[in-house]
Formats: sequence, C-alpha cells, structure tokens
Amino acid sequence: MKFALSIIGALALLISVGHSLAFADGSGDPAAVKQTNGEWYDKAGNPTFKIEKDGTVDWYTSVGYLQYGANCMVCHGPDGLGSSYAPNLTNSLKTMSYAEFYGIVVGGKRNVSASQDLVMPAWGTNKNVMCHLDAIFIYLRARSDGALGRGRPNKVGPKPAGFDKAEDQCFGD
Ligand code: HEC
Repeated sequence: MKFALSIIGALALLISVGHSLAFADGSGDPAAVKQTNGEWYDKAGNPTFKIEKDGTVDWYTSVGYLQYGANCMVCHGPDGLGSSYAPNLTNSLKTMSYAEFYGIVVGGKRNVSASQDLVMPAWGTNKNVMCHLDAIFIYLRARSDGALGRGRPNKVGPKPAGFDKAEDQCFGD
C-alpha cells in the first residue's frame, strides 16, 4: 500500500513537472476548447486566447491589449514586460494561476522592505478594470505563452454578438 502510494505520488509529480515544462503556464494548457459569448476557455475553465495561424487574435485578446494599456502599463510597462517599479507580468503568469491573478488584481499586493515600498493597487471597485479583467488576463496569458508578440495586435477577429450588452450590464447602464 505504502509502495503503491509512493508510485502514485511519483507519477503525480512527473505529470505536474511535465505539465509545467510543456506549457510554463500557471493556469495549465492554454488551448482554447470552448467559447461563451466570444470568450474562449481552456479545458480547466480558465479564460484563454485563440490566435489563428495568420495571427488574427480573438476579440478578448485585443480588448485586453487596450485595457492593459489604459490601466496597467503605467506601472507594468509596455507589452507586460515590467518596469523598474512593477514586475514583468509575462513572467508572473508562467507560474501564477488565473485564480491567483484575479485575487491579486482585486485585492492588491504590497511588498514593503527596508529598501522599497512597492504597491499594487486594489482594483476591485474599478469597473474599467473589473469589467475587463478576463480580457486583460487573456492578453497577458497570450504574451506570457509567446503566442502574441509585442505591440498592438494588427489582425482582430469579429466582435462577438452580445459583447456590448455584457459590457453594459457590467458597467450597470
Ligand atoms: C501604480 C502602479 C501599478 C499599477 C497601475 C498596476 N500595478 Fe500591478 N503591481 C504593481 C506593483 C508595484 C506590484 C508588485 C507588488 C509586490 O511585489 O508586492 C504589482 C504586482 C502585480 C501582480 C503580481 C505579480 C507577481 O508576480 O506577484 C499582478 C498579477 C499585477 N500587478 C497585475 C496588474 C494588472 C492586471 C494591472 C492593471 C489592471 C496592474 N497590475 C496595475 C504596481 C501596479
């Protein structure tokens, strides 16, 4: 029994190591398997990108690019690559899951030491961020996985039906 359990443990370890090596994505395999109102999800149910062979990105990825630029870039730098003040989020997402990302953006994070006082603001009451949080995550996930290069995506797929309505509902107007 003990032996069987340690075999299972070793297998689980191998699988998780293989997993992180294969994807280096804290949310696991980013392959898009299902879609709801134009937003793609991976097989674990995490928001993800869908980028065609010709480089056309899905609508959420392009919204995420714009909203990242409007809300996060001032500290985290162009293309998610970090600055002297705030971390490179394309690195962070290699190990950080969607749930962890979500929690930090909603609640903020503060790293105080003798030499620095770094503050990640809490965005939980900011609708511009909260109504676009999945899009921002999706954009950064694509950047982190190397599926999307630097700069503005130049080919964008059609806006999904229902997108504007969902956005209006979120903003409450
Ligand atoms: C005012 C500057 C500022 C803005 C604007 C900002 N951040 Fe941050 N963010 C930080 C700092 C500083 C840290 C590091 C905090 C720490 O180490 O405790 C951080 C940390 C993070 C982390 C954790 C990274 C890690 O590896 O631990 C995530 C995720 C994050 N920010 C996402 C975002 C997103 C998404 C936005 C836009 C909605 C955003 N941030 C806007 C300053 C900012």
